[in-house]
Amino acid sequence: MKFFVDTANLDQIREAEGLGVLDGVTTNPSLMAKEGIEGENAILQHYKDICSIVSGDVSAEVLSTTYQEMIQEGTMLSALHPQIVVKVPCTKDGIRAIKYFTEQGIRTNCTLVFSIGQALLAAKAGATYVSPFVGRLDDISSDGVELVASIVEMYRYYGYETQVLAASIRSVQHIVECMKVGADVVTSPLSSILGLLKHPLTDSGLAQFEQAAKKMMK
Ligand code: G3P
Repeated sequence: MKFFVDTANLDQIREAEGLGVLDGVTTNPSLMAKEGIEGENAILQHYKDICSIVSGDVSAEVLSTTYQEMIQEGTMLSALHPQIVVKVPCTKDGIRAIKYFTEQGIRTNCTLVFSIGQALLAAKAGATYVSPFVGRLDDISSDGVELVASIVEMYRYYGYETQVLAASIRSVQHIVECMKVGADVVTSPLSSILGLLKHPLTDSGLAQFEQAAKKMMK
């Protein structure tokens, strides 16, 4: 399973990369705005900065909503750096744009996916990744992990190569559950990735070993 960090914060991306287990980065307009990035030049430079920190895929989302504009914007984004994956919303224009990008050899991440039908269209259009939003489904009393599981099963049944990228991850438990149902990628905040390390028995075991080590070195 691949780990992506879901942030546009350069310090957090550096910290995640420093762990040595990071496979990529996902961003979205909300995450970019949170970093105070404004204007086209600043946005493009920020994507280049992220690509210079990590060696894996970096999802850069189009801000446009119409087919022609998505094509123009996505083509420009993909030309920025070979690691860029163009993130496109799962709308009628978005699916058409993904199909176009697929034909041009441009990799895509179909985002804002909340149903298996949307995931089917994304795969048929040739998306590299599909992003079901786990946390936002849970927010409306639906089951986000169940959707991830259904998409994984459907893609395996039909042999689609689109990778299932579980997004809108809010907790360590989300990561573990998505892993159990076979997600290809989980993108999460750095705090949830670091949360995987936490176990009270690791802490108490380490304290015991440290005490024993002190005795031995007396
Ligand atoms: O990867 C999508 C993610 O950034 C959305 O997360 O917590 O806003 O639903 P959230």
